[in-house]
Amino acid sequence: MSQKHKVIVSAPLPADLREKVAARCEIIEVPVGQSPAESVPAALRPQVAGMVCTMRTLVDQALLDAFPALAVSSNFAVGFDNVDVAAATRRKVLICNTPGVLDGAVADVTIGLMLCLARNLVAGDAFVRSGAWTKGAFPLTTDIRGKTLGLLGMGRIGRVVARAAQAFDMKVVYHNRRQDPAAQGLATYVGRDELFAMSDVLSIHIPLSAETRHSVGKRELGLMKPTAYLINTARGPVVDEAALIEALRAGAIAGAGLDVMEQEPLPPSSPLCELPNVVLQAHVGSATHETRRAMIDLAVANLLDALDKRKPQAMVNPEVWEARA
Ligand code: GLV
Repeated sequence: MSQKHKVIVSAPLPADLREKVAARCEIIEVPVGQSPAESVPAALRPQVAGMVCTMRTLVDQALLDAFPALAVSSNFAVGFDNVDVAAATRRKVLICNTPGVLDGAVADVTIGLMLCLARNLVAGDAFVRSGAWTKGAFPLTTDIRGKTLGLLGMGRIGRVVARAAQAFDMKVVYHNRRQDPAAQGLATYVGRDELFAMSDVLSIHIPLSAETRHSVGKRELGLMKPTAYLINTARGPVVDEAALIEALRAGAIAGAGLDVMEQEPLPPSSPLCELPNVVLQAHVGSATHETRRAMIDLAVANLLDALDKRKPQAMVNPEVWEARA
C-alpha cells in the first residue's frame, strides 16, 4: 500500500508544482468547479488527507462529511467565502489561503477601474474606433486628482490602494471595523455613513461573510453623491446588485466599476451589461501570470507544509494547527 498522502487537486497546477506534489502525494484530479464528493470514488474518499482547490469548490459540511480524514484544505485564493470555516474548525480541518501575494494586482485593477470611470476610457476607445472622433471631440471627463477616495475595508489590499491613490494626489479616507494603525499617514478613519457620503470614489475591500452580504445596499448607495463612483474588486454579494442597478439607472450615483458580481460568470442578459455608466471586468483582480504563480506556489506550500506537520504560512483557522501542536 502506498505511503503517500492522497490529495485532491482541483486547481490549475503548473507542471513543476504538479511534480513536486506528486513526489510526496498521490494526486486525485477533480476538474475545477466539480464537486469532489461527486467526482472521487466512494472507496477513496476516507483516505483523502488534503485538498488544494479554487473558490469554486464549496468546502461545506457535506464535503467534510464525505472526506472524514481530510486534515487540510488549501484555498488557491485569499478569499475563503467558499469555506464553512466554523464547520471545518469543528472537524479540525485546517484551512489555508493566499494572502499578501495578490495585493498589488488587485489594487492595480481598482485604480484601473477608477481611471476608466472618471476619464471614460472605455467609451473613448469605442469613440475612436467608430470614427465618431472625425465628427467632433470626445466629451470632457472628470479629474481624480484632488478628489476623495473612500475605502470600505483597510486590510492588505486597501492599504496598497491607499498608497497608489497618494500618487494621484487623492485624499484617502477609510472605514473598517477598527482603526488600523498601519493606515496612519495613508488614510483618515471616518464613520461608515460619512465614508459613503463624502467619497468621490468608494472602493470596497472587505471580505464576504454573513455580516457583509448585501451590506452595501439601497441605504448606503442613497448616501453617496450623484457624482460618485462605486468600485468593487472584493466579492459581488457584498453589494446588493439590484439596488446598485436601480441607483445607476436613476442617476443616484455616477457609475460603477465591477470586477466581481453576484453571479459569476455574469450572464450577458444582466442589466449591468446594458448600463453605459458601468465598467465590467471578469473577476481578474489577481489574474496575472506572476500573481497567479505566486498564489499557487503559496497554496501548494501551505498544503505540503500542513501534511508534513510544518506550520503553513497562511492559515485561516490557526487554532486547528495550535490544537494539533
Ligand atoms: C480572489 O478573488 C481571491 O480571493 O483570491
